[in-house]
Amino acid sequence: MNLFDVYPLFDIEPIKGEGCYVFDKQGNQYLDFYGGHAVISIGHSHPHYVQRISEQVAKLGFYSNSVQNPLQVELAEKLGELSGCNDYDLFLCNSGAEANENALKLASFETGKTKIIAFEKGFHGRTSAAVNITDNPKIQAPINKTFEAELHEWGNLETVEKSLKEGNVCAVIIEGIQGIGGIQIPKPDFLESLSRLCKMYDVVLILDEIQSGYGRSGKFFAYQYADIQPDLITIAKGMGNGFPIGGVLISSKFEAKYGLLGTTFGGNHLACAAGLAVLEVMEQENLVENSAKVGAYLMAQLKEIEAIKEVRGKGLMIGLEFDYPIGDLRKRLLFGEKLFTGSASNPNVMRLLPPLNITEREADVFVGILSKVLEASLVN
Ligand SMILES: Cc1ncc(COP(=O)(O)O)c(C=O)c1O
Repeated sequence: MNLFDVYPLFDIEPIKGEGCYVFDKQGNQYLDFYGGHAVISIGHSHPHYVQRISEQVAKLGFYSNSVQNPLQVELAEKLGELSGCNDYDLFLCNSGAEANENALKLASFETGKTKIIAFEKGFHGRTSAAVNITDNPKIQAPINKTFEAELHEWGNLETVEKSLKEGNVCAVIIEGIQGIGGIQIPKPDFLESLSRLCKMYDVVLILDEIQSGYGRSGKFFAYQYADIQPDLITIAKGMGNGFPIGGVLISSKFEAKYGLLGTTFGGNHLACAAGLAVLEVMEQENLVENSAKVGAYLMAQLKEIEAIKEVRGKGLMIGLEFDYPIGDLRKRLLFGEKLFTGSASNPNVMRLLPPLNITEREADVFVGILSKVLEASLVN
């Protein structure tokens, strides 16, 4: 059987990871400033993570959601404590798209409505409802267009309010920081006004923190730069450091009922062990603070590089905008310098999403390599 060929692949085969480095079959070492799509939060193969998962799988990897699983309770308590969202409930699932799918369902159950407001250049996943509110018609199949999804200009409150006034909107969904859209940071007063409008018109506000959450932005959640309390918050990526796990944080206005949501694999023992290991390391190693500190240091260095048109970001979620498409530059960094970086839907933007435990030394190494490659391309 062949693989269904949907991914363009780099000819690199990583076989080992350690901290912010991965190693390929030939023994080459790569500095990982992308974390495999923003997933690696506590670093590759962190010893505590390896130990916690290994011990759990040796005891019990899985049983269904029909029995007691104290690991889920422990995970919810730890997440509440570290995120400051103690008064939310947690529903566990397996991926980012699934988290958004469940959040949208909850919003629709609650309001009885179907129209969703999202934002231009936003990305919320590839499954049925999540892809319908994602700004990319190429990945939407006819079957996905089952409800009205309205995409608004980033930051435009006037059009949002006009739409909310019509009274048929179920939810507004927005990324804490737009990731794939090219690292667009919402202004705090924009989020605060959006939240106020949602309250005024009785519409559910969903914060998609799948990429920007879990310390990535230098706060536990990126929306915490503003003074808001979303109704629903979706999480995945950094939550499992590579183990597939996602979740929805649910405010007290939603009432749980047996059977309302459900999943076979979500919240299984092994996933909870991975999720707990991540939070324990984040707490012990102060990774949210490290993300803020090293991110600010890195951005200050990057702003000195003239060839970069704009540096924007928060913590270790950074976008570098150039005057030209960066496809070739990324290849030179990857194959010539053994350095992983990310792309964005804007071809001129490079995304940096390194593990949250990088040090200033590794930031210096990155800046040194990037400067060297940019200078060399000026000469050639
Ligand atoms: C903001 C955001 N939401 C949702 C998703 C979908 O997550 P997943 O790929 O785990 O389904 C992504 C993935 O890149 C994302 O960046």
